[in-house]
Amino acid sequence: MKVSVIGFGYVGSVAAAGLAEAGHDVIGIDTDREKIEAFRSGIIPIYEPGLSELVLDTLDKGTLRLMHVDEVEEPLGDVIIIATGTPMSESGSADLGQVHAAISWIKKVQPDRGVVVMKSTVPPGTGIRLQENLHRDTGLGYVSNPEFLREGQAVSDWFSPDRIVVGGEDQEAIQTVISLYHNIAAPIMITDMTSAEMIKYASNAFLATKISFINEIAALCDKVGGMVDEVAKGIGLDSRIGSSFLQAGVGYGGSCFPKDVKALDHVALVNGHSFELLRAVTAVNNRQRLIPLNALRDRFGPLAGVKVAVLGLSFKPNTDDVRESPSLEVIKILANENADISVYDPMALEQARKFLPTDITFADDIMRCVGGTQAVVLATEWSQIVDADWAEISRLMAAPRLLFDGRNVLNPQSMVNLGFEYVGVGRNACARQNGTAPEKGLQASVAFKR
Ligand SMILES: NC(=O)c1ccc[n+]([C@@H]2O[C@H](COP(=O)([O-])OP(=O)(O)OC[C@H]3O[C@@H](n4cnc5c(N)ncnc54)[C@H](O)[C@@H]3O)[C@@H](O)[C@H]2O)c1
Repeated sequence: MKVSVIGFGYVGSVAAAGLAEAGHDVIGIDTDREKIEAFRSGIIPIYEPGLSELVLDTLDKGTLRLMHVDEVEEPLGDVIIIATGTPMSESGSADLGQVHAAISWIKKVQPDRGVVVMKSTVPPGTGIRLQENLHRDTGLGYVSNPEFLREGQAVSDWFSPDRIVVGGEDQEAIQTVISLYHNIAAPIMITDMTSAEMIKYASNAFLATKISFINEIAALCDKVGGMVDEVAKGIGLDSRIGSSFLQAGVGYGGSCFPKDVKALDHVALVNGHSFELLRAVTAVNNRQRLIPLNALRDRFGPLAGVKVAVLGLSFKPNTDDVRESPSLEVIKILANENADISVYDPMALEQARKFLPTDITFADDIMRCVGGTQAVVLATEWSQIVDADWAEISRLMAAPRLLFDGRNVLNPQSMVNLGFEYVGVGRNACARQNGTAPEKGLQASVAFKR
């Protein structure tokens, strides 16, 4: 089948290459000339495990072709997938500007036939309106087909998704969309358009809620003396709950959870419902990002001149995506307080550089990053960071060697043995047992000292 994918970003590139791998004749289309040029010349501008191989292979086979919007001079095909961004607007709603621009362009280039498939995350109710608009002006069909892939494992998620959700009214169009996925074995759920859109938002909102929930439990553990790791393990063994997304830390980030939680909250508000739970989820998440700063201030007082290394810039490991990364927010506040900052990330250094002050040290080597620093904030659990030689890091650092483990991924006692003052999230009880925690623990964090 001939397929066009409009928007060749994190989702569009994986979708286009995945469909090309399935044997479809795919054109990947974007307004970003530089991005298209980079992909075409084999310099993959997105770090996503397996993506480079998949794109290069399908380009080589000719099942994937890439074009800037102005270069398209042929029919878009039977299926036209929209995978443009839907960022957060100032009001918290989803900004549909890129989606509307893509639809206007499709209407101009191929108004007479084809199915428009919405892969971008759009607020519940959007599809009905877009479909009405298309039916009024064109012969194009419309189907909602939200995407659930996770950055960092997007390629494997594409080929092995938990489910494929297809929402719409036109049965023929729905069947066309389903046939796109002939090589994928996954449950296919066919539903109405608005429910499909809601499934996407509700999934992300629920996962974000789990994260904020365990972060609240972590805060309480630090007050009353429990270990959040143990609690999460115990909760997760309940098959009704499951163990995923129960890792306490500096909170969620990325291009999806923060904006989707806010957008769903906005949809609720404009439809006369106050979704209190979502507001709490966001508030808890915003608070989590400040915990490392509080820990640093508790230890050092004013942070001006304090040498701090921040390890990890992407919002999670195995991606170079820094959108809404907790790490970047921490760094910006540290910079405002005139700390002496060095940062390291295995893959996201160049992406992060665009958003950070220029007078911080960008280190492409973890040991260079930590050398001479008094404190380290572990913000992203890349294996290159978690499995680093922490004895050497301790040796290179200066006293007091404060280590804020923002993802609770290091063994507190081992770190103490290496000479660090260890601070975790919701791991206060362990310090109490060692007699190293103050009687009244720090807010949601506490130092382990030798
Ligand atoms: N990133 C994820 O993990 C993920 C997962 C599931 C769903 N989603 C959703 O998928 C959508 C895309 O997300 P993303 O992370 O890939 O975004 P992205 O910003 O990486 O990619 C969007 C791409 O669209 C291009 N674009 C913008 N306007 C265009 C237009 N009019 N015509 C052609 N190209 C245009 C941009 O240049 C960019 O390359 C969003 O709605 C997002 O919420 C994202």
